[in-house]
Amino acid sequence: MSRAFYITTPIYYVNDKPHIGHAYTTIACDVMARFKRLDGFQVKFLTGTDEHGQKVAKAAAEKGMTPQALCDQNSQNFRDLTVTLGASNDDFIRTTEARHVRSCQALWEKLRAKGEITLGKYEGWYAVRDEAFYDEAELVTNAAGEKVAPSGAPVEWMVEENYSFPLSKWQDRLLAFYDANPDFIGPKARFNEVYSFVKGGLMDLSISRTAFSWGIPVPGDEKHVMYVWIDALTNYITALGHPDDTADFKTFWSAPDSFAMHMVGKDIIRFHCVYWPAFLMAADLPLPKRVFAHGWWTVEGQKMSKSLGNAIDPNEMVAKYGLDQLRYFLMREVPFGNDGDFSEAAIAGRINSELANALGNLAQRFLSFIAKNLGGVLPAPGDLTAEDKALLEACAGLLPQCRKAMEVQAFHDMIEAIWTVVRDANGYVDRQAPWALRKTDPARMNTVLWVLAEAVRHIAILIQPFVPTSAAKMLDQLAVAPDARTFAHLTADHAVKGGTTLPTPEGVFPRYGDPKIGKGA
Ligand code: MSP
Repeated sequence: MSRAFYITTPIYYVNDKPHIGHAYTTIACDVMARFKRLDGFQVKFLTGTDEHGQKVAKAAAEKGMTPQALCDQNSQNFRDLTVTLGASNDDFIRTTEARHVRSCQALWEKLRAKGEITLGKYEGWYAVRDEAFYDEAELVTNAAGEKVAPSGAPVEWMVEENYSFPLSKWQDRLLAFYDANPDFIGPKARFNEVYSFVKGGLMDLSISRTAFSWGIPVPGDEKHVMYVWIDALTNYITALGHPDDTADFKTFWSAPDSFAMHMVGKDIIRFHCVYWPAFLMAADLPLPKRVFAHGWWTVEGQKMSKSLGNAIDPNEMVAKYGLDQLRYFLMREVPFGNDGDFSEAAIAGRINSELANALGNLAQRFLSFIAKNLGGVLPAPGDLTAEDKALLEACAGLLPQCRKAMEVQAFHDMIEAIWTVVRDANGYVDRQAPWALRKTDPARMNTVLWVLAEAVRHIAILIQPFVPTSAAKMLDQLAVAPDARTFAHLTADHAVKGGTTLPTPEGVFPRYGDPKIGKGA
């Protein structure tokens, strides 16, 4: 298997400022990217902003700004957010960049040369908010009795001359592709949703607009701009160097054993799992290996929306609860793929019970004991008992379980597997009571402390993708060298060594409500 892994977030619309839903996708991709890097893969992680189209043009007009000025301002907000979230992205793409305009125009030319683009007239329903065309049969009636998109977005009847892509012609090839690649879409329920949508028949797709000009000009016919989704989806290959056959393009996209995956929200699955593969097939380009659609967050039980004014600002959440705490909560609270409810009581609850009490205390208790009673020197173990071995074996068994979970983006399962061992380790401390052994059996006490240090080393290495800063502090406290923190180090020959002087311990996961929280935890 190749060791190249490419992961992308959707590129975010710049019509508005970032909210917790955007932060969620970025954090999920960051966790995936960090996991794969620690597991020895060559990783490329891409995020960025989607800047063209009617929605952005409209938002700029409403604000009395030029589209470019609005894009510059809001793209920067998304870029700043990657830093606030600790995202380890290797690139940040903007669709207004020259490299992207060139890439889209080259793809267009290629499709046209293959006879995949024709000029015609489009009549139908369009929702600017979704930047999507809808079939009459898909529309629903809202509470006010109006016909709207399934997402609730208002629709308008559009009549325009535009270029069209023969999507219907790709129906059978798409179905054959899904049949041959059952892991192309996760979770399974989304696979089934896409499959039946395609099976139900596809309409040809309008891929240019003439009613406004904020977009990438169609080569050779500049009164048209490209439909924003063909522009947006192409970002994933632009960032690898398309249309040039660069080393990155080969490594992360066209090599048969490379693994490219798109992480998206459930609302944009049709674009990624139907339109995008069809465009790529039509252009004779390889397809990504997987698209995973996550669920949506409500806020304290309500849909998050501009009109309700309840959008959660991720910057505020980081300032209030701490970055690692927010990352942990978002990945832990709901099975990835399901919808979830964002509630501040739930964040505080998880911080206190799972981070501060369960993991924080586990590390803090034995480390401060060593500092106070053993001059900060980690003792060497004697013979291991069955209980010692059981805990260490549980630790050694974690990596395969984590890999299995991450193969299908089951972040919550990975966290649950690790916390099972955290609970085991806490049970072990209670039963072994090393503090009581100090007088009665110091040799046994030494073994217990060493076993605990080794267990916490495993746990801290594995939680790095979720809580990178806190995991690093924990590994610092165990004096684990920065270059000895990958998954390849999760073996007995890299175990903590008796005789090592440990730095003065410090609590890593403060309780929420402590004055320390939010100050860079
Ligand atoms: N620009 C397109 C994507 C183009 S990708 C080639 C777009 N942008 S978006 O800014 O509207 O949304 C970006 C992502 O945020 C989507 O994956 C969407 O699902 C996600 N979320 C928006 N609101 C959300 C929640 N309330 N909860 C979770 N994620 C949500 O779509």
